[in-house]
Amino acid sequence: MTQNGSIKIGVIGGGQLARMMVPPAIHLGLRISVLAESEGASAERAADVVGDYRDAETVYAFAETVDVITFDHEHVPQSILHELVSRGVAVHPRPDALQYAQDKIVMREKLAELGVPIPDWTAAADETDLQVFLDAHGGRAVVKTARGGYDGKGVRVISDAAEVRDWFTALAEDGNGGSLLVEELVDFVRELSQLVARRPSGETRTWPVVETIQRDGVCAEVLAPAPTDRAEVLEQAAGIGAIVAEGVDVTGVLAVEMFETRDGRVLVNELAMRPHNSGHFSIEGSVTSQFEQHLRAVADLPLGDTSMTAPAAVMVNVLGGPAEGPMPVRYAEALAAHPRAKFHSYDKQPRPGRKVGHVTVTGEQLDAVRAEAVAAAQHFE
Ligand SMILES: Nc1ncnc2c1ncn2[C@@H]1O[C@H](COP(=O)(O)OP(=O)(O)OP(=O)(O)O)[C@@H](O)[C@H]1O
Ligand SMILES: [Mg+2]
Repeated sequence: MTQNGSIKIGVIGGGQLARMMVPPAIHLGLRISVLAESEGASAERAADVVGDYRDAETVYAFAETVDVITFDHEHVPQSILHELVSRGVAVHPRPDALQYAQDKIVMREKLAELGVPIPDWTAAADETDLQVFLDAHGGRAVVKTARGGYDGKGVRVISDAAEVRDWFTALAEDGNGGSLLVEELVDFVRELSQLVARRPSGETRTWPVVETIQRDGVCAEVLAPAPTDRAEVLEQAAGIGAIVAEGVDVTGVLAVEMFETRDGRVLVNELAMRPHNSGHFSIEGSVTSQFEQHLRAVADLPLGDTSMTAPAAVMVNVLGGPAEGPMPVRYAEALAAHPRAKFHSYDKQPRPGRKVGHVTVTGEQLDAVRAEAVAAAQHFE
């Protein structure tokens, strides 16, 4: 088989997403290298460099050792990304696309410009702005920090502007004139995610729309395909995914998180430009996983088939809990009790609420598959 060993992918960020890019890189014959933020990071196996992604010289030096730069997270500063591009480094997704995943206010502005449906929103510079929005929306709203949020950190449902005074204070101390994103509290029946992969040439592939279930703001389960009986909802979600992927000119994997409202509308919540928790099911559940596809896309190789390998796939996240018992014992128990379940450890230090692994089960019937995946993951609670 012809080797692709001449292409070397550099991933900035050493979390579980980078870690899960390693096996498909090996299978494709691509070389991969990770700039991890610390020793002991999840993707350490591939990390030949440990350093700070906010330090320009560290990133430039790393980029010199690879052919393509891509990401495990969206936090590399725009100034560094633009400098990489001007030095001739291939960066995917490109900085002009990535900006929409870096700042939720910039994202909302772009989504509005693209004409895709989104919740009512405003950028609030102070408590007075926020109060005006609350008054116009029945006294409740969702407030988000524009940057740096993940797993629901940086998201609060409020009924009084003073509930985010600390965030306004922090913005004022920053002195960059930033604002908070304020949104209507959406009455949704389920959350959806559309994953799209896109090559620099524009070739695009999508996976089936999935349902994501959040608990305490953290993704808990993903059901593939989304079990909605409203075909028009799935069509809308897929259509929105296509408009956004092209509209932001993404390269690599894009996740479009959406709400399905009680009255059958689809509203975009947010974008991620990298493999996403809502796509972990694809490792076993799709002919081509999101991790393999991301590598193909950023290396500008032909994309793979995204059909499902079974009628249903369910992924359940394993979170670190307060009572960390003897993990190896429970791990062996879980493997013994659920031989059809696929376990993925991120090799991360467990902390309460921290994602430390996931379990996927595929099969014929969604409810049965889900029950087995949940039971398998429960061994780690
Ligand atoms: N406008 C809204 N109305 C109702 N619920 C919302 C709204 N915005 C967010 N949520 C809930 O909060 C969750 C987290 O919000 P969001 O996706 O914006 O934050 P995040 O921390 O960036 O998420 P992620 O874990 O995907 O990085 C959503 O999945 C949803 O359950
Ligand atoms: Mg989200």
